[in-house]
Amino acid sequence: MREETAVGIGAPPAISLKHVSKTFGGVHALDDVSFEIAQGEVHCLAGENGCGKSTLIKIITGVYQPDAGLVAEYFGESVASMTPNDARRRGIAVIWQDLALFPEMTVAENIAFETLVGGRPRLFSFGKIRAIAQKALASLEVEIDLEERLGRLPIAQRQIVAIARALVSDARLIFMDEPTASLTQSETNALLAVVRRLSARGVSVVFVSHRLAEVLDIATRVTVLRDGKLVGVYPTEGMTQSRLTELMTGTRFDTAVAARDTANNAPVLEVRGLTRRGEFSDIGFVLREGEVLGLTGLIGAGRTELGHTLFGMTRPDAGTIALDGRVLHLKSNRDAVEAGIAYVSEDRLALGLVQPQSIADNLVLPVLGKISNRAGLISRAARDDLVRHWLTELAIKIGHPSDPVATLSGGNQQRVVLAKWLATEPKVLILDSPTVGVDVGARAGIFRIVRKLAESGLAILMISDEVPEVYFNADRILHMAAGRIVGEYDPRKFELPDLEAAVYG
Ligand SMILES: Nc1ncnc2c1ncn2[C@@H]1O[C@H](COP(=O)(O)OP(=O)(O)OP(=O)(O)O)[C@@H](O)[C@H]1O
Ligand SMILES: [Mg+2]
Repeated sequence: MREETAVGIGAPPAISLKHVSKTFGGVHALDDVSFEIAQGEVHCLAGENGCGKSTLIKIITGVYQPDAGLVAEYFGESVASMTPNDARRRGIAVIWQDLALFPEMTVAENIAFETLVGGRPRLFSFGKIRAIAQKALASLEVEIDLEERLGRLPIAQRQIVAIARALVSDARLIFMDEPTASLTQSETNALLAVVRRLSARGVSVVFVSHRLAEVLDIATRVTVLRDGKLVGVYPTEGMTQSRLTELMTGTRFDTAVAARDTANNAPVLEVRGLTRRGEFSDIGFVLREGEVLGLTGLIGAGRTELGHTLFGMTRPDAGTIALDGRVLHLKSNRDAVEAGIAYVSEDRLALGLVQPQSIADNLVLPVLGKISNRAGLISRAARDDLVRHWLTELAIKIGHPSDPVATLSGGNQQRVVLAKWLATEPKVLILDSPTVGVDVGARAGIFRIVRKLAESGLAILMISDEVPEVYFNADRILHMAAGRIVGEYDPRKFELPDLEAAVYG
């Protein structure tokens, strides 16, 4: 272990915790974990889905109360108990996944919000609010229109606004729980640059991400958890992705190109001249039986927009989509489901799941017809069978099928979305960023499933901005840029760095 990070010398740690335990019912979410962060350090928290990362953050920030035994110091002071307000007062901020911002307010108002409610409002003119917000954004070296309503900004910019707001309230330690999960590569790079600036001015950042390249790039140290227990704290210098994976999972994963020749398989989905103004133009490709076709590209390339049109969520201006030789006229996603197309969205929280409803209900949502009898009543036994089958098939870790989906860890939610669509037994499966928020072990699991589904004849379109993901798992790769298909690659004939250079430029 490295002795001391340069930033930490002399100063007490930002926080130091010993004996953190947390049980939910019978589940040991955390079991006697210790955790320490130096001031100004970027520290990653790594581990598989459900290992306790979010729970640890919630304990530190006073959202959950820990089991007895915790010994905690915040900026050198020992602390007996914590509430979210205490945490905020001590300079700790969390950038939650939902960001807890106000979509109807402007960027400036969102940034200056804490100051507004904390202080005497009459002292704050619009000019002052602007000035506060401007200063915070400038210190992060980003430019965002201060007058824009927050709800109109892309998620990446909203995150920056949330960070700026934390700075305005003098945050000295910022937690980011999977901040890059729904960002594209270039947005991620911009966020990582902001994290470096925070660190340079002495703010500590705790970063959770399942993208290990990112973890090794941004952090000086990484704390690894497995099944609620501390595995260890490691410097990232000299650490490799495969070693980190091994620490997280206790197993080794070998990566090899999985591509096979599918050129002679029967065409299933044929797309010709497909155009939607402002989104994509003249898209043409054939997806064959048993094929995994990768679709990759940068921000604004139009991949997700294309996925939406193929799933009937938006209408094309020109071109055709044919399935098994028959041209489809999709008016809604229901038409698409009926035709045999399933779609796993990149944004599982918004589109994929009904959070307050049970795991079981979410899973059977698209197949209600299949498990209903002639009178339209849902057969309980059929439902339970189906649910049990898919929970086992995708190794989804849950308490009980009747628990709300919101109680599942992020990665397990993603698996429920996948299960839900696989249960429709589609001919074509569109996967948009299927492993966002999913840990390495589960990723390998999902790709194994994808491969198995393809081998059983399913035609799969796999959209991802992680080039390695399509490189290792697709039979063929389409590269999309600025709304057009600009290249096609056979992974067996290219080295990964060449493909990355072509896509990331
Ligand atoms: N409010 C809760 N009620 C019951 N169980 C919970 C609750 N919050 C978390 N758990 C359980 O605690 C364990 C740790 O969950 P946590 O959300 O901390 O995992 P995580 O490491 O953040 O995973 P992911 O990478 O999937 O987000 C899981 O088994 C989870 O189901
Ligand atoms: Mg989590």
